[in-house]
Amino acid sequence: MDGRSYAELSWDEAHSNAHETLLKMTREEKQSLLRGIGWVPKGSWFDLQQGWYVGNTPAIDRLGLPSLNMQDASAGFRTYWNFIVGTVTAWPSMLCLAATWDPFIVKLAAQNIAEEFAGKGANVLLGPGVNVQRVARNGRNFEYIAGEDPYLGSQLAKAYVSGVQSKNILSVVKHWVFNEQETNRSTENSVVDEKTAWELYYPPFQAAIEAGVGAVMCGYNKVNGFYSCQNKEELHLLKERMGFRGFVQSDWWATHDISNDSPLVDGLDQEMPGIGIPSAGDEFTGEYLAQAKESLINDAAGRIIAAMYKLNLPATSKCAPPNCLDFFKANVTSEAHVQLARRVAAESVVLLKNEGDVLPLTASKYKKIAVIGTVADAKPFNPNGAGQGSTDTWMIGDYYSGGGSGHVTTDRAISALVGISKRASELGIEVMSSANNDIDKAIAAADEADVVLLVVGTTSGESIDRPNLDLDDNANELILNVSASSKNKNVVVVMQIPGAVVMPWKGTVSSIMALFLGGQETGYALADVLFGDHPPSGRLPFTMPETEADTIAPGLGADVVYSEGLRTGYRNKNFAAAFPFGHGLTYTNFSYSNLQVGTCPLDSAAIVCLTVTVTNVGHRPGLTIPQLYLQLPSVAGEPSALLKGFYKTSELNPKQSQEVTFRIAPRDVSYYDADSRGFLQVDRAEAFIGESFRDLRLSAKLHFQTKV
Ligand code: GLC
Repeated sequence: MDGRSYAELSWDEAHSNAHETLLKMTREEKQSLLRGIGWVPKGSWFDLQQGWYVGNTPAIDRLGLPSLNMQDASAGFRTYWNFIVGTVTAWPSMLCLAATWDPFIVKLAAQNIAEEFAGKGANVLLGPGVNVQRVARNGRNFEYIAGEDPYLGSQLAKAYVSGVQSKNILSVVKHWVFNEQETNRSTENSVVDEKTAWELYYPPFQAAIEAGVGAVMCGYNKVNGFYSCQNKEELHLLKERMGFRGFVQSDWWATHDISNDSPLVDGLDQEMPGIGIPSAGDEFTGEYLAQAKESLINDAAGRIIAAMYKLNLPATSKCAPPNCLDFFKANVTSEAHVQLARRVAAESVVLLKNEGDVLPLTASKYKKIAVIGTVADAKPFNPNGAGQGSTDTWMIGDYYSGGGSGHVTTDRAISALVGISKRASELGIEVMSSANNDIDKAIAAADEADVVLLVVGTTSGESIDRPNLDLDDNANELILNVSASSKNKNVVVVMQIPGAVVMPWKGTVSSIMALFLGGQETGYALADVLFGDHPPSGRLPFTMPETEADTIAPGLGADVVYSEGLRTGYRNKNFAAAFPFGHGLTYTNFSYSNLQVGTCPLDSAAIVCLTVTVTNVGHRPGLTIPQLYLQLPSVAGEPSALLKGFYKTSELNPKQSQEVTFRIAPRDVSYYDADSRGFLQVDRAEAFIGESFRDLRLSAKLHFQTKV
C-alpha cells in the first residue's frame, strides 16, 4: 500500500493499519467499499458491463487502496464472455479436488488457479465453496470441496484457501451457512440444531478462517428465520465465536429488506453486486449508507481494508474496470497448467469396482476396445449463447464443468473417446466407437471387441437441484442390455458425474470408474488411469447410495428442517451404500500392520499419535489413503465413528511398505455440548484404521489426558 511491506501481517496489525487509513478517509470513500459497482439495469434484471468483473469496488488511489476485482470461481476464471473462452484453463471441479483426499495437490491446484486470476487482473477469487453435502441431488455438490464430511472439508478448505492467498489473491469462502440445496434457495429457511451446526456444517468455514481467509460470502437462504446476510446471530457467531477478522460480503442479490432492518448492524459488511430492485430492498442504497452510524461504516470498511492489508494486495490492481478488457482477453492458460489440470483430474478418478482385473487396459490383454455412449464424445456447453451470461442458459452444465457461476466453458475439452483413442493407438490397440446410446449398435460393437467401455454421465448446475440421481440418455438401460446380451463380459462403465448416482446395473458389469466433472483434460485423465499410467488413487468423498430412497431430498417447504441432525451420509447407520465413504480401488492391494499408539514427540498440539505400516501386497505399483475413524464414548452423542485422519501414501512398489502417522488433536476427540454451548473433550476413544468407512483393518482403544 504505502510502500511498507504488509507481508505476513497478523490480523491485529492489519486492523491497526486499517484504522490509520480510515482516519484519512472521507465518508464517501468508506461507503464506496461497502457496495459493488459495474452492473447496470437491463430489462427486468441487470447486466454486467464489459470490462468489469463479476464483482467490483472502486480503487481509492490517494490512499493506496486497490479496486477489488472479483471473479468466479473455484474451478477457474469464469468465462462470462465468449472472448474469454480458450484463454483460461477449465480445471477439475471442487468435488474432484475432494476426491483426491490430498491437501498437497489441492493447494497446488489452488495456487495455479490463482495465478490465472492474477493474470486476468483479478485480486479476489469467489471461492472455495465448502458446504458439507446434505442433499444428494443438490445442483451445486460439484462445486463444494467437503463432500459429506466436515473433517475432509476442513483439511481441504484450509489447503485451498492457503493456495489461493499465497498468490496475494483474496479468497472468499462460501456459502455461509446451511445453504445445502438449490430448491427455493432464495426463500427456504434452514432450521439446524446447535450441535449439528458446530460438528457438521461450521467446521470447513472455521478451517478457512484458521487459514486466514479474507472474506466470507453469506448465502441466499434463511437460517432459523432470518436471511443469512442479515442474520445477526450467525454473523456475530462468525465474527465473535469463530474469530473471523475479514469481511462478510453478500451473495449477489442476497441482501433483503434493508428498509425494515439494518444489514450493517446484523454483520453484513459489503453488498454485492451493488444494484438491486428498489422495491425488494436488496441493495445498500446511498440513502441507507448515508444514514448509517459512523461506527458501523468504520467497522465494515475497516474489515475490508484490513483484509486487503492481510492479503498484501498490491496498492493498485492491474487494471481498474472498465479499463480491463486487455486483461480479460489475455491468455493465462499454459501447457504447465493444462498438465496440472490433467494430473489433478487423474488423481481424482475413483475406481469403484474392478472384478477379474479387467482394468488396467494393456496391449497384452486386449487387441480391440469398444468405446460406447453419448458422453464418450460429448462436446462442452457454452451457456453464454451469443454473447454473455444469458439469463436462460447460465445455469446449465456439461460433462466437464457444472453449470452456473462456477462453470468454465472450454473450447478444448478432451473427450473420453479422444483420450482413450490416443493412448490406445500408442499401444497398438484398436479402438472402435459408437458414440451414442443405441443399444443394438452397442451390443454389436461390444461383441466385436475384447473389452467394452460404456461412457455415461450426467451433470448439474446452480439454482436447480437434480430431478433424480439417474444418468442421462437412458444409460441404465444401455448398460443393462449390453451386460445381458453381449457375449463380451469385460464391461467397464466410466462415469462423468456431478455427485451421487444410482447404479442398478452395478452387479452386472466388471468395472466401474467415476470422475466428478474433470475439466478440459477429462479424456486424457481417464486414459491415464484406464491404461494404468496413473494407478487410480481417488476416494469417494461421499457415500454412493444403493437407491435414492436413503438419500436426503431437497426440502420443499418454507422451513427445511435438518431433522436428521448428524446422521447424514456414512453417519447414518440406515444408509445402504452401493459404495462407502472413502472407498476407492487401485490396481494392487495393501495390508495394514503394526498399529502403535503413543505420544507425539514432534507435535505438542497432538495428544496421541497412531502409527501403522501399510504394505503393497499386490503385483503392481500403487498408492493408498489410509483413513482414521474415531468412535467417541456415548456421552459425545455421535451416531457413528467419525473421520479424524487420512494420509495419502507415496506410490509403493510390490512388497514396499510405508509407515503412516495419525496425530490426534484435542478437538478431534471433543464433542459439542449444547448445554454448556462449547466443546468438551473425552478421555478415551476407539480408533479404527483402514481403506474406507466400511473396510477397517486395525483398531485400538485409546486413553488420554483431557487438555482443558
Ligand atoms: C452466484 C453464486 C455465488 C457467486 C456469485 C457471483 O449466484 O451463488 O457462488 O460467486 O453469485 O456470481
